[in-house]
Amino acid sequence: MGEPHAKQPSHEAFVPASTIELRVQQAWTELGRGVHDRKHGFHLPMLCTLDAQGLPDARVVVLRKAVREQAQVLMHTDVRSDKARLLLGLPGCTGPCTIVFYDAARRLQLRVHGSLTLHTQGALVANQWAASSLSSRRCYLAPHAPGSVQAAEDSNLPEHFRGKVPTPDEARAGKDNFAVLACIIARIDMLHLGAMGHSRCEWHHDETGCVRQERWLSP
Ligand SMILES: Cc1cc2nc3c(=O)[nH]c(=O)nc-3n(C[C@H](O)[C@H](O)[C@H](O)COP(=O)(O)O)c2cc1C
Repeated sequence: MGEPHAKQPSHEAFVPASTIELRVQQAWTELGRGVHDRKHGFHLPMLCTLDAQGLPDARVVVLRKAVREQAQVLMHTDVRSDKARLLLGLPGCTGPCTIVFYDAARRLQLRVHGSLTLHTQGALVANQWAASSLSSRRCYLAPHAPGSVQAAEDSNLPEHFRGKVPTPDEARAGKDNFAVLACIIARIDMLHLGAMGHSRCEWHHDETGCVRQERWLSP
């Protein structure tokens, strides 16, 4: 055995590729990292939608899955939340969205535009529930709808789950509140901030993930 390894940085320096084709690949690689690496800035994007009045609304969510072949990213939510209830009232439970990802270490921003569908049942929901951790499932045991008005400060967790992760059996009760937000991506705008100059490009995805209308933009 040699010397103990020095602490490795959690990432390598990001070097933007010279072609848009390769940048598309880089974008999806970083999205994949954002799913699994809690320290990656892409793990906690800003999901922007329109509210019932057609006004912009935004909130932080956790990136749960990124599938290049389907040009899709997945998030999870409580079916009783405002954004979920709004989508439930739209045709196909679908509305427009923008998701903004920024990783400060890589100085990389993705602005993702697409359509957002709420899934409350089916294989996608079952698979995402099965893949979720027990501590994540605990959120769905909340007795009240997120955003509901309370007479006093309220953690919205049953008393016995405060500071405790539920067992699989205990967590099961939350499954009815669990929903998947699936964004089918139409367009990505990628911006890298570099010491030698910034760099920006955009492209469109079709529903098979194929890229078209790629072009360079002034940062
Ligand atoms: C770090 C962090 C992670 C979050 N992750 C999620 C999430 O994955 N899904 C979600 O619905 N809300 C998540 N939230 C809460 C939302 O930001 C928001 O407060 C909540 O979903 C209510 O939003 P709405 O009223 O627009 O439905 C997270 C908040 C923070 C600060």
